[in-house]
This record gives sequence, structure tokens and C-alpha cells, in this order.
Amino acid sequence: MRKKVVAGNWKCNTTLQEGVELAKAVDKIVAEKGASDVVVVMGTPFTHLTKVVESVNTKRVGVSSQNCAAEAKGAFTGEVSAAMVKSTGAEYVILGHSERREYYGETSETLNKKVALTLENGLTPIYCCGEPLEIREAGTQKEYVINQLKETIFSLSADDFKKIIIAYEPIWAIGTGKTATTEQAQEMHKDIRDAIAAQFDAAVADEISILYGGSCNPKNANELFANPDVDGGLIGGASLKAEDFIEIINAY
Ligand code: PGA
Repeated sequence: MRKKVVAGNWKCNTTLQEGVELAKAVDKIVAEKGASDVVVVMGTPFTHLTKVVESVNTKRVGVSSQNCAAEAKGAFTGEVSAAMVKSTGAEYVILGHSERREYYGETSETLNKKVALTLENGLTPIYCCGEPLEIREAGTQKEYVINQLKETIFSLSADDFKKIIIAYEPIWAIGTGKTATTEQAQEMHKDIRDAIAAQFDAAVADEISILYGGSCNPKNANELFANPDVDGGLIGGASLKAEDFIEIINAY
């Protein structure tokens, strides 16, 4: 049975102190809630990883970075390698977020290197894909998103591919308050799963968690997560308040 995952993406928000408080608050409520089959992850800035790992029980709240370097190590000023992320105790790396693709020029080529390094270091990539508004308006979103996957993670071996979590995030829904309808989300998630089955096989497709991201909040999470091919969410804005994030986790 594939995992249900609710992952927060804090983006460039919170000071170290605020982040630690937020992480502790989430961890406390998750602990009070007790046993659950939902995997909870918090994607923090690099600077927060070590402290957040120390401040929570990582068995109930996993910790993720939001990026990693495309090189293993060396003279790359300002970069943070996958091995460095691993050494903090974090277990996940968000890769290919549309903000990184758009503002920092991330290409399929760089992402392939990042995915490989993430996997080599025993970290789980949360791999983002999704179309911009003009592609959605042209009706070619399926081809666009499947092509993003073909250029990157579809070239992995089935064994490595099974280690990945995919996040479908329509760019027009990110931070805009405009959520994909439950039908739009289900349709794309099914298209992605069908493409995985065609590339690998049905068993692999059935094992991969595909998260929805884009203005997911406590009000709409329930409806989105009720879709058979939506296995959770990648949550931006609503992950910055412990109560909202928990409500989303509780949507399951
Ligand atoms: P949002 O962001 O929930 O604020 O729309 C989602 C994301 O970019 O991961």
C-alpha cells in the first residue's frame, strides 16, 4: 500500500528560532494525536535542519531540505550538498520546485544530477512537477507534465524510482489561493500514474505516492485527499501555522 504523505514547504520563511518553535508545535500535536498512517514531513530552510531534527521526534515528523547542490562537493560557493543535508539527520529533499525552476534556472539536466546525489545519499526526493497557466489554458498540461518526468526521473531504474515521492503542483495554483478542482487534481494524478505504469509497470505505479500542491488548505484538503490517486499534499503557506498544517494532516 502506498504511503499517505503530508509535507510542509516553508520556503524562505521563519528565522531559526521561529522555525524551531513551529516544528516543536507540529511535533507536539502529532504526538498527542497518536498512531497514524500519514507520513508527516517539514521542509525547512537549510539553516534550520540540524536544530529542527534535534527538536522533534523524527520518527513521527520527518525533516526535509528544499533543495541540494547538483555537485557532490568542492568549489561551489554557497551550495549545500546532499551529503551535508544527510549529515543533519534530515531524510527528504524537495527537488524541482517550480520556484527553483523559474527563478534559479533549474533544468532537467541539473535536476537529474540532484536526484542522483539525493538517492546516493539515502535521502528521499520529493520531486515536483507542474504546468504554468498558459499550458493549462492551451490544454496541453498532460503532455507538459509527463515530459518533465520523462526528461528526469523516468530514466531511473525501477528500484530507484520506487524511492521517490512525486508532487504535482500546477504553477497557477501555487500561493495564489486558486486551487485545482478536485477533478483537475485527480485527472492529472491518474495521468501521471498511468505514465508510470507505461514506463515501468503497474506495480511500481501503484506504489508511488503522488502529492498535490497549490493552495492546499484546511478547507479544501479533505476533498482533494479523497481522490483515489491523490496521496497527500505538499503544503506551502498553510504549513507555516501549526494548527492549519495539523488540520490538513487530519483531513485524512
Ligand atoms: P502553497 O505552496 O501551498 O502556498 O500554494 C505550495 C508549494 O509551492 O509547495
